[in-house]
Amino acid sequence: MKILGIETSCDETGIAIYDSKKLLICNEIYSQIIIHKNFGGPVPELSSRDHIQKIIPLFLKTIKNSSIKIYDIIAISYTYGPGLSGSLMIGTSFAKSLSYKLKIPTIKINHLEGHIFSSFINNKKPKFPFISLIISGGHTMLIKIEKIGFYKILGETLDDSTGEILDKISKLLNLGYPGGKEIEKKSKKNINNYYNFPKPLTKNKNLNFSFSGLKTHIKNIINKTNLNKNIIENIAYSLQETIIDTLFIKCFRAIEFNKINNLSISGGVSINKKLKIKFLQLIKKNKTNIFFPKNSLCTDNGGMISFVGYQKFIMNNLDNNNKININTKIKI
Ligand code: KG4
Ligand code: ZN
Repeated sequence: MKILGIETSCDETGIAIYDSKKLLICNEIYSQIIIHKNFGGPVPELSSRDHIQKIIPLFLKTIKNSSIKIYDIIAISYTYGPGLSGSLMIGTSFAKSLSYKLKIPTIKINHLEGHIFSSFINNKKPKFPFISLIISGGHTMLIKIEKIGFYKILGETLDDSTGEILDKISKLLNLGYPGGKEIEKKSKKNINNYYNFPKPLTKNKNLNFSFSGLKTHIKNIINKTNLNKNIIENIAYSLQETIIDTLFIKCFRAIEFNKINNLSISGGVSINKKLKIKFLQLIKKNKTNIFFPKNSLCTDNGGMISFVGYQKFIMNNLDNNNKININTKIKI
């Protein structure tokens, strides 16, 4: 069984094929980073204009590189939200048109479900129930996963997401986009006298996050300082450490409160090497199993959508209509 996965919720056009026997056989991604670089973040109108240009060539490339025929596909899964409306409309319209032509069903997938299960693909997977931390450009959430389709939000950001603060501070430091990647590059050297930034909401017992106060705090420091190479590296390093420590405190609390010792971390920020190393070290002490997606499945991709699509297909969770329904703000 071969399921097509289509992802267009933000600034990546992703198309993939998940095969029930061979698993993920093709995961093609076209990233729009070059288009949004000068703006320090995704520009919705430019994003949808580019998806429309790239989606058909990328689909044809996926078919060619997976060495299958179009008629081998038995269902089409696509992201219907959350995300940018114009971008979601393009993936959804393409999925519906192709399903009409091929006379096969579609399966609508929540983008966040894609991130949650991205650590399951071609990898050692967590056992249910597990705690999922999603850290991306659009989201920061802790979710308890009972099984596919059964989720409980334990905590989420009250304002900016983890990726957002990295992108915004990177822009203020003139480091470029995506911010997380640039901040990581500048944080390579170990710094002893780093800034002791506040770790937001960590004294608070709940599992929510808040990064906008930290952003303002750093912005004020940047405005008062004559930036040079050493100061830029120090701010980048300190921000990365503060974010990792804050995420760890909240994850550890979620593990303790729920007595669940399986943790999966996914989304664009989970590609960060320092974050992986620190979590692996800390978690080892606490006898918790930790899971990350492969690097190619951390940022947005069609592979995670095709994987969840396959799971929903075997549960007969199909979306049998020709309506184009997106939901830009859906949670989980
Ligand atoms: O999952 P994703 O591709 O898109 C959303 O669903 O939002 O995540 C994008 C985010 C961006 O904010 C970017 O700065 C961050 O992932 N990111 C990183 C790294 N590479 C990308 N964050 C930390 N370290 C990185 N190396
Ligand atoms: Zn995402």
